[in-house]
Amino acid sequence: MPSNKKWRIHNPDGSKRVVVTKELPGTRWLEVLEGAGCRVEICTSEDVLSIADIKAAIGHSCDGAIGQLTEAWGDELFSALKAAGAGVYSNYAVGFNNVDIAAATRHGIPVGNTPGVLTETTAEMAVALTFAAARRLGEAQRFLRRGHFKGWLPRLFVGEQLQSKTVGLIGAGRVGAAYGRMMVEGHKMNLIYFDLYPNKALEAYVAAYSNFLVVRGESPLICRRMNTVGELLETADCVSIHTVLDDTTRHLINAGRLDRMKENALLINTARGPVIKEDDLVAHCRKHPDFRVGLDVFENEPALAPGLIDLDNIVAVPHIASATLWTRSGMATLAACNVAGILNGYPAWSHPDILAFLEDNPPQAAPSILNADELGLCQNF
Ligand code: DGY
Repeated sequence: MPSNKKWRIHNPDGSKRVVVTKELPGTRWLEVLEGAGCRVEICTSEDVLSIADIKAAIGHSCDGAIGQLTEAWGDELFSALKAAGAGVYSNYAVGFNNVDIAAATRHGIPVGNTPGVLTETTAEMAVALTFAAARRLGEAQRFLRRGHFKGWLPRLFVGEQLQSKTVGLIGAGRVGAAYGRMMVEGHKMNLIYFDLYPNKALEAYVAAYSNFLVVRGESPLICRRMNTVGELLETADCVSIHTVLDDTTRHLINAGRLDRMKENALLINTARGPVIKEDDLVAHCRKHPDFRVGLDVFENEPALAPGLIDLDNIVAVPHIASATLWTRSGMATLAACNVAGILNGYPAWSHPDILAFLEDNPPQAAPSILNADELGLCQNF
C-alpha cells in the first residue's frame, strides 16, 4: 500500500489505477471512475499529504490522480506521474494556484479543475460573511455565549446597514458577478468593479434591474467598471475579493491600499488568502475598530496571522465557502469526469454548460481541462 497514510480501495479489480489524495463527498464520482474501469485508491487521512507521500502513492504504475488545493502539484509530482505512465491529473477545486500548469503541459499531462458548481455557493458565503461582518455577528454571539447579555440596549452592537450603498468587486468573473447580483438585487446596492476585462453581461443585468426599479418609482442603480483598484477601494462601502491568485494579485491588499478604504468599510475575501497581506490587515483592524472584515481564506492556511482571531472586527470561517453537499459532490463528479474522460480518450469539453456532467447520460468529454489547447485536446461540441 502506498505511503504510511491510511488508504481505502474502491473497485479493486479495475484495470486503471487512480490515486485520490482525500475522501470526497457523494458516490457519483466513484461510479464515474468505476465505469471507466478504474481501481480507485483513496487516502482516508485528513492530514495534508506531502510531496513525498503523494509520490509514494503514485508509485511505479498509475493512470491518473485527483489532488487537493492544499498540495503543491509541480514539476516533481508531474514527472512522477509521467514516469508512472499516468495520463491525467484533476484538481478537486476550481482554483489552481497550487498547480504548475506549465510543468504538467511539459510532461504532456492534462490538468482538470471543477468550475461551474461553486459559483452560487461561494457567492452565498461571501454574502453571509458580508452581513456577519456588517452586523457584528461573531462578536455578538461570543457576547451571548459568555453570558454578558443583560437585556436590550439602544447602543448594543450597532453595525452597518448596506441597503443602497456601494459594493465593490475586485474580480468580476463567475463568483464575483454572482455575489454582485445578489447584493444589487437583494439590497439595492450600486455596484462598481475592477477587472482586467469588462463584464458586459453583469452591466446589462444591473441596468435591467435598475430600469425595473425606476418603473416602480424607485431610485436607479449604477454599475461601473473602475480604472484602478485604488479608485474602487476609495469609493466602495463594501469590497469583496473574487480574483485569482497570481503574481499580480499577491498582496494586492496591503497597508497602503487599506488606508485608501473608508474607515467603516467592509472587506470580504472568499477567493485566496494571499491576495491580502494579513499582518497589514491585522494592524489596520486594530487601528480602525469600525473597519470590518469577513474572511474565508487566509494567507498561510491553516495558520492565521498573529492576533487575527482575537479581533472583534474580523469574522472568519475555515475555507468553507464551497462547502454545500451539492457543490462538493458536484466538484467530485467533475474531477472524476476529467480523469475518466481523458482515460477514455474523450476530447475536452468546450461548451459553457458544464452542469450537463451532473446529469444522467453525461457528455462524452472531459469537462474542464485547463491545458486542453496546449495539448491539442479540444473539440467543438
Ligand atoms: C476552490 O475550489 O478553488 C475553492 O477554494 C475550494 O472549494
